[in-house]
Amino acid sequence: MIKRLWAKLSGSIAPKPASMEEGNVPTHVAIIMDGNGRWAKKRGLPRMAGHHSGMKTVKRITIAADRLGIKYLTMYAFSTENWKRPKAEVDFLMKLPQQFLEIELDELIANNVQVRMMGSRDNLPSHTIHALEEAVSKTAGNTGLVLNFALNYGSRIEMLDAIKHIALDVKNGKLDAEDIDEDVMSSRLLTCDIPDPDLLIRTSGELRLSNFMLWQLAYSEFWFTDVYWPEFTEKHFHEAIETYQRRARRYGGL
Ligand code: IPE
Ligand code: IPE
Ligand code: MG
Repeated sequence: MIKRLWAKLSGSIAPKPASMEEGNVPTHVAIIMDGNGRWAKKRGLPRMAGHHSGMKTVKRITIAADRLGIKYLTMYAFSTENWKRPKAEVDFLMKLPQQFLEIELDELIANNVQVRMMGSRDNLPSHTIHALEEAVSKTAGNTGLVLNFALNYGSRIEMLDAIKHIALDVKNGKLDAEDIDEDVMSSRLLTCDIPDPDLLIRTSGELRLSNFMLWQLAYSEFWFTDVYWPEFTEKHFHEAIETYQRRARRYGGL
């Protein structure tokens, strides 16, 4: 039954447009999935309905990214600042990974997707950690798309933790302060074994980073849309990729 649903959705995903350049897809796409609450409000629904609907978009875009040959897809699901929201909403959001994985894990495995989690475990309910750990361990050997959930993630905390580790190594004589370079810093971040995002997408019309991957996005291309996350489809995603393909990445050179 579940497999049939996935197959049905897979079949309904719009194919890659003919205009899309072969061989120039971003290796790593990071997405700030925003606008669930406003999407729901617009329809007179509770915010939770927006989060629920946004889960379907996660699946849709995962399939679309996999089909394009994108290797890493990082999805910002919950920030270290999102704890400020009302408890009922936080509790609901914390149940979503479990719900998503209960329905999708088998198919993610069947599609060779590797699930990862990027963020702090502090304060996460045990059911959330358990669901994610199960998904991470069951998909660890998969070699397809890496689906990296940024959950309880905050870039400043990530950088501070990295700096603390580096400082300790210097204090303990394991590292010379002179040798601290970009590679040392990158190797202490949660993204130590994945490349920096080539493309950042943010939905819902907000033009800010909201504490997301501040170090890693130094030279990423940005693409924003007014579309709310629950109504974001593979067509918007393809548009973002095609825009990316037309950009000249100069990295400060000519
Ligand atoms: C994004 O949608 C999901 C999370 C931040 C968890 P929002 O919940 O931020 O929706 P808006 O921005 O209030 O519309
Ligand atoms: C950023 O969205 C966090 C996630 C998408 C998980 P927010 O909705 O929390 O960001 P702000 O508060 O508008 O900056
Ligand atoms: Mg928001």
